[in-house]
Amino acid sequence: LKKIKKQKVLLMGKSGSGKSSMRSIIFSNYVAKDTRRLGATIDIDLSHVKFLGNLTLNLWDCGGQEAFMENYLSQQRSHVFSNVGVLIYVFDIKSGEWERDLGTYVNIISALVQYSREAQVFILIHKMDLVARNHREADYEAAVAAVRRKTAEACAIVRRLRNDSGAATKLSSSSSQQPPGGSSSGAGDLDLDVDVQFFATSIWDQSLYKAWASIIHDLVPNLPIIETQLASLGQAVDADEILLFERTSFLVVSKWTSQEGDSNPYGDRFERMSNILKAWKHTCSSFTGTPRNAEQFSDFEYRMGTSFSMFVTKFTTNTFILVCLPPGEARFNSAKL
Ligand code: GTP
Ligand code: MG
Repeated sequence: LKKIKKQKVLLMGKSGSGKSSMRSIIFSNYVAKDTRRLGATIDIDLSHVKFLGNLTLNLWDCGGQEAFMENYLSQQRSHVFSNVGVLIYVFDIKSGEWERDLGTYVNIISALVQYSREAQVFILIHKMDLVARNHREADYEAAVAAVRRKTAEACAIVRRLRNDSGAATKLSSSSSQQPPGGSSSGAGDLDLDVDVQFFATSIWDQSLYKAWASIIHDLVPNLPIIETQLASLGQAVDADEILLFERTSFLVVSKWTSQEGDSNPYGDRFERMSNILKAWKHTCSSFTGTPRNAEQFSDFEYRMGTSFSMFVTKFTTNTFILVCLPPGEARFNSAKL
């Protein structure tokens, strides 16, 4: 169970769509306005992010200028698209070249399906803050529909290519022997439909945390074990809710909610807490003058008279825990202990 799990994560999309911005906010302690200083990414910016001890993300932030994109699709094709666990594709909702962006997307998905058939795909419809509030839902839905169509188109292209070139190979290969995630030639009858999930995001609110927590959630190994143990802990300390945050990103990796807690009407409270705690961490480090990446997070407590109380504190080497409780001094103190 201690085995290190490495995941190759591709971050792609056209230049200026906001890839490096989100990466810097989630993993490098930038606040949104710091991203205005970022220059265009040259070729691929590789980083390794350790998660919960035994998960390492190999994050490939792929510069989106056209010349780079063409290069990924040609010379670097197998290098870039082999062994991919996750593709995160970022669309700028305010891009003036939507058709062109979709064309590039089709090429990228085709390459992905060709080399990493099992990869998960997350589509972020980004910079939603730039869309007037009353148009957001409609614009987002239209973008999702267009990307879905193009995804199907890309799969059809690869299927056709395989059918054309596959007839001969098919006779000599046994399709039941395919390695999981491996590329396979000559298997025209394979299911090539990609599993795609969509999120509307902006660096100016908590939506970014919702999308990334969901991406990470699918990657953390042994999550059912962690979740069972969180539930036992929650019951033992009489909590309404427990959240487990990853140490650097403050993404919610796991959570448990009591029956009582389930009636909480604020469905976006998880990503809101990530956003608030990240800002709190930032404030703590600017007070003490420590460098951005230094560990400098004080405990966080909040007591709301007769309705609830909560605290956030360091839990394990790689996590912080948030415990939300019904009111009561004794309950609060014993839970913290
Ligand atoms: P390449 O490295 O050239 O591929 O571009 P990139 O996708 O990495 O873009 P980058 O992250 O450098 O962001 C470009 C600009 O978009 C920056 O000035 C950011 O501040 C801005 N930006 C990023 N996300 C958002 C967002 O959600 N809303 C708004 N309004 N601006 C954003
Ligand atoms: Mg970049």
